[in-house]
Amino acid sequence: MENIYEEKYNVTPEQRGGMKNQKPLVIWFTGLSGSGKSTLAKQLEHELFNRGYHTFSLDGDNVRSGLNKNIGFTPEGRKENLRRIGEVAKLMLDAGLITICAFISPYKEDRYAIQNTVGIDNYFEVFVDTPLSVCEERDVKGLYKRARSGEIKNFTGISAPYEKPEEPNLRIDTSETNIEQALSMLIEKIEAKIKS
Ligand code: ADX
Repeated sequence: MENIYEEKYNVTPEQRGGMKNQKPLVIWFTGLSGSGKSTLAKQLEHELFNRGYHTFSLDGDNVRSGLNKNIGFTPEGRKENLRRIGEVAKLMLDAGLITICAFISPYKEDRYAIQNTVGIDNYFEVFVDTPLSVCEERDVKGLYKRARSGEIKNFTGISAPYEKPEEPNLRIDTSETNIEQALSMLIEKIEAKIKS
């Protein structure tokens, strides 16, 4: 960037993580609306917190009512939404935190960009692969019904695409796996990465 000079800090990300006895990690949940991302992310944070890890959560609906409230759901809107979240996740990582993110993040390109921002080794992707029919049946927020009627445009799975991850670190279908099973799979894989 022109006329911008990076300021080097005296305390490194490794030192910040080390003081918390953990290796920082971004855990990225991707999947359709209603797939169970936020539920799993919340339970995971609670479990990690109870085990003594220092965590932080970023969730689509919450970030979109604050930092990103000026952004919509066109492909460009989602790109900017996720670009900012990638930068925030990187800051949280540098702060030494286990950072749990739950965003639809439907485009491969945007997910690659996040991986690039936070670094591939610091990124653990969880594909919440619950079938559209199940998400629509649940319709917890009533959004699918409104998307089907045409009231909500660019709705993922209905009038906008979802590009499935090809090689996620973990795949969970919440119509086949209950929350306890999902949580124990998550904890096993994640704890192996974040233990200092
Ligand atoms: S993302 O595609 O940019 O990653 P994000 O996870 O931030 O999406 O926001 C998704 C949330 O916004 C959904 O849980 C839903 O409540 C709401 N929402 C509103 N409009 C849409 C839409 N057109 N498509 C998907 N989700 C929408």
